[in-house]
Amino acid sequence: MLLQGKVAVITGAGSGIGRATAKRFAAEGAKVVVADVNDARGVETADEIALAGGSVRFVHTDVSRFADVEAAVQAAVDAFGRIDILFNNAGIGRYKPLLEHTPEDYDAVVKVNQYGVYYGILAAGRKMRELGIRGTIINTASVFAFVASEGVIGYHAAKGAVKMMTQAAALELGRYGIRVLAIAPGGVDTPIIQGYKDMGLADRMARQHMRRQLQRPEQIAAVVTLLATEDADAINGSVVMVDDGFAEFK
Ligand SMILES: NC(=O)c1ccc[n+]([C@@H]2O[C@H](COP(=O)([O-])OP(=O)(O)OC[C@H]3O[C@@H](n4cnc5c(N)ncnc54)[C@H](O)[C@@H]3O)[C@@H](O)[C@H]2O)c1
Repeated sequence: MLLQGKVAVITGAGSGIGRATAKRFAAEGAKVVVADVNDARGVETADEIALAGGSVRFVHTDVSRFADVEAAVQAAVDAFGRIDILFNNAGIGRYKPLLEHTPEDYDAVVKVNQYGVYYGILAAGRKMRELGIRGTIINTASVFAFVASEGVIGYHAAKGAVKMMTQAAALELGRYGIRVLAIAPGGVDTPIIQGYKDMGLADRMARQHMRRQLQRPEQIAAVVTLLATEDADAINGSVVMVDDGFAEFK
C-alpha cells in the first residue's frame, strides 16, 4: 500500500477528482478527511470509504473561508493525530462569454479556486511546521493555467495564480521539508464540465486530447497518489501535466 499510515485532507472530495482521490488514498492505506461544501456529496464519499473499511471523517468545509480550511486541517489532527498530505482540489467553473461576465462571476471563481488554495497552503503549512511534519501539499491547477479557452476568464486567472503560488510556496516551505506541487489536468469527465455538455464544451475539450477523449477522475487520482508518495520526493514546486497531451489543435 502506497500511503500506509499517512493522513490526508482532500478538499472538494464530494465529487469528481477529489472523490476518486479520497477513495484511492484510502485504498492505499491513508486516513482521509473528506472536506466539501456539499454535505450530502461529502458524506456519500465518506460512507463509501468507510464501507470499504477505510478510516475517514467528513468535515463541512467552504474553502473560500479560511476558518473552515483551518478547521478541516485541525480535524485531521484531532481524529488521526497528524496531517501528511493536503490535496487542495475544490474548484468551480463559470462559463460565460467574456463581455457577459460580471464582477460577481469573477469573484466567485477566484474565491474558491484561488483563495481556497492559498488558505490551504497557509493552514496546512502552519500545522505541518508546528508538528514538524515533512508533508506534501498538492494543488489542483489546470491546463487552463497554460492554454487559453473562451468563456472562463476568472478560471484562467485563478488557475494561473495556483501555478505561481505553488512555486512560491515550495520555495518558502522547503526549509521545513514540506513539498508543494500542483497537477494540471486536461478535460476530466466530472460534473464541472458535464454541466456544459449541451454547449458542446465537453466534446470540444475531448477533441483537444491526443487520444480525443476526456479523462476519467480515477486516472487523475492515480497520479496524485504517486505524487503524494516518497517516490516522488524529487518533484517539488512543479506543475505536473496530467492532460493526455491537451493542446490547441481542433
Ligand atoms: N473536470 C475537469 O475537466 C477539470 C480540469 C482541470 C482542472 N479541474 C479542477 O479539478 C478540481 C476538481 O474538479 P472536478 O472536475 O472534480 O469537479 P466536481 O464539480 O466534480 O467537484 C468539485 C467539488 O468541489 C466542491 N466545492 C465547490 N465549491 C467548494 C467550496 N467553496 N468549498 C469546498 N468544496 C467546494 C464541490 O461540492 C464538488 O464536490 C477543480 O479545482 C477543477 O477546477 C477540473
